[in-house]
Amino acid sequence: MVASEQLTQTPSVLDVLPDRWQSLRAAGPVGYDDAQGVWRVVGYADVAAVLADPVTYSSDLSPIAPTQQDFEAFRQGNFVGMDPPEHRKLRTLVSQAFTPRVVHGLAPRIEAVCARLLDAVADRDRFDVVDALAYPLPIIVIAELLGVPAGDHRLFQEWASTLFSGDQLGEAPDMADLERALEAIAPTVREMNDYVLGHIRHRRAHPGDDLTSKLLTAEVDGVRLRDQEIVGFVALLLVAGHITTTALLGNALVTFDRHPGTLGVLRDDPGKVPDAVEEVLRWLPPFPELGRRTARPVVLSGHEIPPDSLLMVHLGAANRDPARFTAPEAFDVTRSPNPHLTFGHGIHFCFGAPLARLEARIALNLLLNRFCSIVVPSHDDITFQNPSVIVGVRHLPVEVTR
Ligand code: HEM
Repeated sequence: MVASEQLTQTPSVLDVLPDRWQSLRAAGPVGYDDAQGVWRVVGYADVAAVLADPVTYSSDLSPIAPTQQDFEAFRQGNFVGMDPPEHRKLRTLVSQAFTPRVVHGLAPRIEAVCARLLDAVADRDRFDVVDALAYPLPIIVIAELLGVPAGDHRLFQEWASTLFSGDQLGEAPDMADLERALEAIAPTVREMNDYVLGHIRHRRAHPGDDLTSKLLTAEVDGVRLRDQEIVGFVALLLVAGHITTTALLGNALVTFDRHPGTLGVLRDDPGKVPDAVEEVLRWLPPFPELGRRTARPVVLSGHEIPPDSLLMVHLGAANRDPARFTAPEAFDVTRSPNPHLTFGHGIHFCFGAPLARLEARIALNLLLNRFCSIVVPSHDDITFQNPSVIVGVRHLPVEVTR
């Protein structure tokens, strides 16, 4: 079971976060937080500007953040924490293997996995839709994509649970908390590292049609990925691609429940499901904050920021900036265009966004097809992940009618 059983009960996360984003914005688009010693960037235009300039605003936080020996290996292929030109080299190589065609080709498998997961609760009118569907779906998809044997999918689920427990972190973790958390997950990191290296060796000897085999042969200007870079990328997929998608699905269902009539609108016109997914992404971004480090002195919205400062870039606050969105505090599944920043912006724009969107659309369509109604009978039974790690529902008991 996933950790966050030190859980925040609804409605706290759903109500507290928007209030917090609003009060952050009220203090100005950019400001210094004395208590935490970080700069907070909250206005849409400034958030987009920071993310669009990776030279000034570095993604490599290692000079100012705690690190851990066991993570050094993972950092090699983990290009979300890299700056140009290393970032470009790795992203280009990996893009050769993880093409739009590969993602599109996953649709039938995603449909089959969703159907199998929902078949397992076919005799029940009440079940936890996160445990039944939202949690296992993305991890099975990633494991299948990598060509991991079905018997080992359980290992991936366990690792993901440990990495995302947030057990060691309070609601406002400091550097010492982060160090303790890294220490606690180090054994899992070593285990994953060994497993993935073994899987790479196996695929080198027995290539298949899977992503791991494709990563082994991807080549740009005669350069190939090193084994350790593939391990780091697999870890990145697991971290960036699993719990975020779980969060998206859970957040969709809880938000629809809080806005009665939404499921009816989507059932009447399933063509609206993609726009509804975008609005859920805007409304509750799974990663509401990204970290950046100033690589040089810079002036942002009139503030002089010294080099090596930590910036928290608030996607959640930017997504509700009235300067960019009409009626930003209204949840509107027909909103279009919807230029939310939930997948980031610029060179680090989420690499897995097409896959996350595909999984969410397929899962929601299947839920709409199978059930006439999906109701959250008691909001007291909903639990959330530790919001300092990720904004997402962890347990969501629902009642369905067929
Ligand atoms: C990057 C969010 C799903 C793989 C990012 C970034 C965000 C994000 C905000 C930018 C980070 C930054 O600029 O520092 C999300 C959300 C998801 C999701 C909200 C689901 C709702 C996925 C999936 C995968 C994935 C399914 C892969 C299977 C990645 C990778 C990067 C990334 C590899 C790094 C890109 C780079 O640095 O160039 N994601 N993600 N993500 N995401 Fe996602």
